[in-house]
Amino acid sequence: MRTVALLVCVLVLLVAPCLWAQEDDPNAGLPQGQGRDAVIANCTACHNAALILQNRMSRSAWDALITWMQEEQGLWELEPEVRNSILDYLAKHQGPGAPSGQGDAALHPNPMYEYQYPPNPL
Ligand code: HEC
Repeated sequence: MRTVALLVCVLVLLVAPCLWAQEDDPNAGLPQGQGRDAVIANCTACHNAALILQNRMSRSAWDALITWMQEEQGLWELEPEVRNSILDYLAKHQGPGAPSGQGDAALHPNPMYEYQYPPNPL
């Protein structure tokens, strides 16, 4: 009986790592690059990176979104360097993706694409 228990234990130990390995890392989709660590450290605590990956915005729109999240969603203050490296990363990897030198309006014919956060009336 003890042998059976031991065998079960060994089997579980052998199989478990394979199951863990199959678990999807929700942040794996974030492209490698400078600032990725800062994004993972500061932007994946409340929601995973899927929310970030499904958005493409200009740097200023990302900046406004971060401010909105700080004012409305409890995102903590970010050191200026940290915020900058997050914005650099987002603008580069989650930017509109078109060649620079064009206005945002040219990149987004649909004005609904840009986030508009009205000032807090309070
Ligand atoms: C303290 C928690 C918290 C942290 C940390 C946080 N967020 Fe959020 N974020 C939220 C919440 C809550 C929502 C969902 C708001 C809603 O849709 O109701 C959200 C939504 C979003 C959205 C989707 C906005 C939309 O309207 O589709 C994006 C993109 C986003 N966050 C990016 C980021 C980035 C980038 C960072 C890091 C700078 C970050 N978040 C850090 C709380 C957080």
